[in-house]
Amino acid sequence: MTKSPYEHSELYELAFSWRDYSKAVDFISEAAALAGLAEITSMVELGCGPGQYCREFARRGVTAYGVDSSPEMALYAQRIYDDEKLPGHILETDMRSFRLEQKVDLALCMMATFSHLLTNRDIVDHFAAVADSLKDDGLYLLELPHPRDAFDTDKSTRDVWEIEKDGSKLSIDWCSDATFDPITEIDKGTVRFKLEKDGAVKSYESPSDARRMGFGNLRALIDLSGRFHIAAMYGDLDVNIPFDNAKKAWRLVLVLRKSP
Ligand SMILES: C[S@@+](CC[C@H](N)C(=O)[O-])C[C@H]1O[C@@H](n2cnc3c(N)ncnc32)[C@H](O)[C@@H]1O
Repeated sequence: MTKSPYEHSELYELAFSWRDYSKAVDFISEAAALAGLAEITSMVELGCGPGQYCREFARRGVTAYGVDSSPEMALYAQRIYDDEKLPGHILETDMRSFRLEQKVDLALCMMATFSHLLTNRDIVDHFAAVADSLKDDGLYLLELPHPRDAFDTDKSTRDVWEIEKDGSKLSIDWCSDATFDPITEIDKGTVRFKLEKDGAVKSYESPSDARRMGFGNLRALIDLSGRFHIAAMYGDLDVNIPFDNAKKAWRLVLVLRKSP
């Protein structure tokens, strides 16, 4: 058992290589423009992992920072920045208390990274750290699971999938064994990677905790933090998909504006 799935940076990157990151950054830029941020000159990705979004922004000339508490992930992402001489860098630090050397236009927290903030205190501290790192009127775009997933009604995502690339096959089981504690609202599960490459098979297992929270509670924390208000909501990384209960809306994408 390894300590965390995020020790396996390359496997994580391969596991999530089904997403088109260039298209995702097009969406983020369009959503930001619709919320009034016409030009993004600087940004930060929180819990950036391999840094798929921040490095895509950096490739487009934006000064782009990444924040991640995993030493393996921070090193992996920084190596890519160094190899490509990208503007910005990766900070190995906590997204509940980070500080940047300059205030930025946009902050991002993607996939289900926000669910690693396990307590209400973690979330409120995080909102304060993000707001302090944004310029006035800066935006914070957050991607979360659709709230229906918190109630097991008709889940929008799969816990088990496979990716084949460059002769390797990676099988992923992301916490299909999770057990939910209704008092703490924390799911405790196991992330399993099985890599088949050059005739050899390697398997890795790590524990992973995630907060499962209803939308009402999240909205209350946003309001009570006093640092942000909701500027827009989408049901996918697509400005044409509204956030509602239709099947097409399978995520909750929140665009938060920093409060004055
Ligand atoms: C699900 S991965 C997301 C990676 C990438 N942003 C993506 O969308 O694919 C979550 C990342 O958040 C990081 N993380 C978890 N808790 C954190 C914290 N408190 N501060 C900073 N990073 C954290 C983990 O190390 C991991 O790399």
